[in-house]
Amino acid sequence: MSNSENGTSKFQMVCVVAMANNRVIGDGDSLIWHLPGDLARVKSITMGCPLIMGRRTWHSIGRPLPGRLSIVLTRDTQWHADGCIAVNSLSQAIAEGKKWLAQTKTEENRLILFGGGEIYNLGIDLCQWIELTTVNISPNGGTLFPKINWQEWQRVSSQTHAAGATHPEFGYHRYHYSGGTRYL
Ligand SMILES: NC(=O)c1ccc[n+]([C@@H]2O[C@H](COP(=O)([O-])OP(=O)(O)OC[C@H]3O[C@@H](n4cnc5c(N)ncnc54)[C@H](OP(=O)(O)O)[C@@H]3O)[C@@H](O)[C@H]2O)c1
Repeated sequence: MSNSENGTSKFQMVCVVAMANNRVIGDGDSLIWHLPGDLARVKSITMGCPLIMGRRTWHSIGRPLPGRLSIVLTRDTQWHADGCIAVNSLSQAIAEGKKWLAQTKTEENRLILFGGGEIYNLGIDLCQWIELTTVNISPNGGTLFPKINWQEWQRVSSQTHAAGATHPEFGYHRYHYSGGTRYL
């Protein structure tokens, strides 16, 4: 029996984000770096999970990501696209994510806050975990990750990678919210 069937479901939200030193996450249309291994890492973290993203991020990806549910936030009640579920509020997104996990009869209990800037703003205070990629650059302008109080987050693992010919120095860091439990 899956955890969602036996009535003990405790769903958690995980923020997955890559950001520069100055909190820039993209130029508004797409990412502005290519890091070796980062896409594979994001795939392995998010596989089997619902992804909650903004309509602009959906367009920047351009397709549904296999093995995951794409839940797209828009204020446009008429908007739809093949391969995703369109919703008009974060609470609706969370409800759709939980429903999908329950239907897939999985032990998985994570919903992924997938960006971009507007959607991180909406959902970061519900997250229990942040899977952060840091990129050692400071681009001029762009979409920002919200300011958060990092004192409330405990870094539980960290890995750094040296710069290469085609990419800057970057790091992978897992943070856990230390201010209490945040079940959805
Ligand atoms: N580095 C990373 O990890 C990462 C991850 C994801 C995205 N990004 C980057 O972030 C940028 C996009 O971010 P963004 O902030 O411009 O856009 P976004 O957050 O992806 O999407 C914004 C859209 O979400 C919808 N929305 C926002 N708040 C809503 C609400 N309360 N209720 C319903 N719908 C709502 C609106 O869609 P409508 O206009 O349709 O109403 C809004 O235009 C791109 O450059 C992308 O590459 C980076």
